[in-house]
Amino acid sequence: MRAVIPAAGIGKRLRPHTLNVPKVMINIAGKRLIGHVLDAVESAGVDSVSIIIGYKGDQVTEYVNKYYPHLRLDFPYQTERKGLGHAVLEGLEDKEESVLILLGDTVFDVDFKQFVSNKNDAIAVVKVDDPRRFGVAEVDETNRINKLVEKPEDPKSDLALAGLYFIKDQRVLKAALEKLITDDIKTRGEYQLTDALQLMIENGQHIQAVEINGWYDCGTKESLLDSHRFLLTHHLSTEQSQGCIIHPPVFIHAEAKVDNSIIGPNVTIDRGAEISNTILTETIVGKGAVIKDMILSNSLIGDHAAVAGQKRVVNVGDYSELKLN
Ligand code: G1P
Repeated sequence: MRAVIPAAGIGKRLRPHTLNVPKVMINIAGKRLIGHVLDAVESAGVDSVSIIIGYKGDQVTEYVNKYYPHLRLDFPYQTERKGLGHAVLEGLEDKEESVLILLGDTVFDVDFKQFVSNKNDAIAVVKVDDPRRFGVAEVDETNRINKLVEKPEDPKSDLALAGLYFIKDQRVLKAALEKLITDDIKTRGEYQLTDALQLMIENGQHIQAVEINGWYDCGTKESLLDSHRFLLTHHLSTEQSQGCIIHPPVFIHAEAKVDNSIIGPNVTIDRGAEISNTILTETIVGKGAVIKDMILSNSLIGDHAAVAGQKRVVNVGDYSELKLN
């Protein structure tokens, strides 16, 4: 099975953490985001992967070639941003094969094996309060999709498309995307994957909506920390530090140094980082970062950053009150 992974995102809302790396190369829970995505698709039986790259894409190519050489890989370069449909088309082949399409910057809470065992085409959906920001699926009582609409102003359903799609024959989707482009059908100025899938439905294609537990798009600091928490809890949890109190789940790289600190829950400390006299919760610490005398929560610390607090000395008498803000 093939996977097509659009991974050209700049990650503007994550700056400054995406100034030196593209969004999918952010390190969470001990691995690059794209690494987590590739591990997931491999577990579902994918052996050939097309990753659509853009901003700082050479880093993605280098990383994936190095760590996933056993996969058949190609890296189409997206020169112009013409929409998700346009990007996905770059990765499709004229070959009868099923394809799993998933956004490279998203962590899905789903059983991938089960998802690709669907006997029809399938799209992952999640019930949301405000579907207007997403593609929306209107379904019948068996969850077969009747209609797909990209970011409708007046949604007729609360089922949002999560960004995970399973298509049994990639050629059918390829033809629909090519038709979009030939007929110049755009929504919000872009060639939308949602519109191509809607064309397939109009041609009688059976596409099933499959409700999944959730997804984390990693587009903002908050959603990145949410997916960090999810990955630590579900995929790995190592505790390997002396002289410290560890509240799992945490990931501490074997080459990180942690002294006299309280770490966790939900903390990643990457290779070469040095942490001392510090309390960390819900935080990602990058490679070679140095943190000293700090209490940090819900924080992102980039590679080689230095963060130091202040040690105070107090001499407080009986019944006194001291508040340090
Ligand atoms: C894309 C899809 C949309 C889907 C969303 C999920 O939108 O076009 O249908 O619901 O991903 O994150 P984007 O977020 O790229 O605007």
